Amino acid sequence: MRLSLSARDRRLFVESILAKKLGISLNSFVESAIDDLVNSLGTDIDPEAPETIETLIDACCVGETMFMRHAEHFSALKHWVSSRLSRPLSVWSAGCCTGEEAYSLAATLFPLSHDIEVLGTDVNLRFLRKARLARYTAWSLRSIDLTTCDYWLNTDQAGASVKRWLKKYVSFKRVNLLNVNEMTRYDAIFCRNVLMYFYPEVAQGVINSFAEHIKPGGVLFLGYYDPIPDENSLWRRVEYNNIVYYQLRERKKQSSRSPKTIELPKENRAPDKPVKRQPEQIKTSKSVSSQLSPKAVEESLPDPLKDEARLERYLADIYRYASSGKQEIALSIFEIAVDQFPFAAELYIIAALIFAELSQFSEAKVRARKACFLQPDSCYAQYVLGYCLAESGNVKQALNRFKQSQSYLEKIKAAEVVPLSQGLSISQLKRLLDDRLGDADESN
Ligand SMILES: C[S@@+](CC[C@H](N)C(=O)[O-])C[C@H]1O[C@@H](n2cnc3c(N)ncnc32)[C@H](O)[C@@H]1O
Repeated sequence: MRLSLSARDRRLFVESILAKKLGISLNSFVESAIDDLVNSLGTDIDPEAPETIETLIDACCVGETMFMRHAEHFSALKHWVSSRLSRPLSVWSAGCCTGEEAYSLAATLFPLSHDIEVLGTDVNLRFLRKARLARYTAWSLRSIDLTTCDYWLNTDQAGASVKRWLKKYVSFKRVNLLNVNEMTRYDAIFCRNVLMYFYPEVAQGVINSFAEHIKPGGVLFLGYYDPIPDENSLWRRVEYNNIVYYQLRERKKQSSRSPKTIELPKENRAPDKPVKRQPEQIKTSKSVSSQLSPKAVEESLPDPLKDEARLERYLADIYRYASSGKQEIALSIFEIAVDQFPFAAELYIIAALIFAELSQFSEAKVRARKACFLQPDSCYAQYVLGYCLAESGNVKQALNRFKQSQSYLEKIKAAEVVPLSQGLSISQLKRLLDDRLGDADESN
């Protein structure tokens, strides 16, 4: 479904997707580039459509590169390789863009060993297609002396192409640096001018993860403006001819992270269609015709009601995505929504349930506690906090919350739907609480 978002919401959406999918911070872009990025999506956005993410990845990736960019790094690599005894060499160009770096690495190493393997990876499919083509314009050649490259480059009026024999040593693959679990170990990693666009903490995470993909004593080259490894990290700073690179201090055990698929507990599964909330919570005017589209209805409302309708729409979208297994999108919309409605307890409740579904119980508890803080007498907020506590093993505290929830529930008169719950009936919640409290009685 396409969402018609305001310019501000679109920007928040872009910001959240770039952060989550790529680790890239919008702060690293100039305003005009951010505008271009937001505009690349058009005015209506379908957050669910894979092409939305692909469009953003394509639009945000900075494609600036050239052959032998910062040639001194290649000289330092050559020096390091020359000092080693073993000759099979594998190098990873991480964030290789259109391939110039990967081919430059192969051309640098070939005179030292013919047993070489260079892998270029990038998240941008368009760049990778170009890399595999290995056909370049003069712009890519601007920092090399062509007379010294004719053994690996065919030049012509339009530019140059990489010679077939060198291409054999280089391969390309799509890899997102936020998920490098599949990668093997390399003698050297070049990751230059990539992490400068990332959130600093994400960049450190990527640098740490490289330690898992480097052979003992292997080296890491970063760009001049990239974040450097933390002082207490596994990387030792090495200086050579005014160049700094990093060498792995010790071998780290490879972690075995496996993605989890977690079912939302049935009792909390969101309804397929969002159920209308209680009349006292959303005061939709009777004069607003139900023949109008939801958006037209929303626009015809006075401002405070417009806000409520917008919140309603966010909640419906979050529930829809969460209940169809797209938690990441649901959480992105939650972040956009909570920025505009920081006091809406129902947003925190749904976020708590999504985090609980993902077994991220500390995140879930934070959101559920926030909901209880904002709406202390909400039986549903108390129940959800109890649920998160119970699922994370805090049985005693959970019990208190369930009792609290039960006492608030008893006070509700003449409501069919539990307030803030997006469709749970009073009798359903009663049953859930009876089960929970009954279980506790039995175990005592
Ligand atoms: C400025 S280019 C750097 C190219 C080359 N390393 C150089 O220094 O010339 C940055 C590259 O990082 C890639 N990139 C950005 N975020 C990424 C991510 N999360 N995973 C993999 N590549 C990413 C972009 O697609 C782009 O090709």
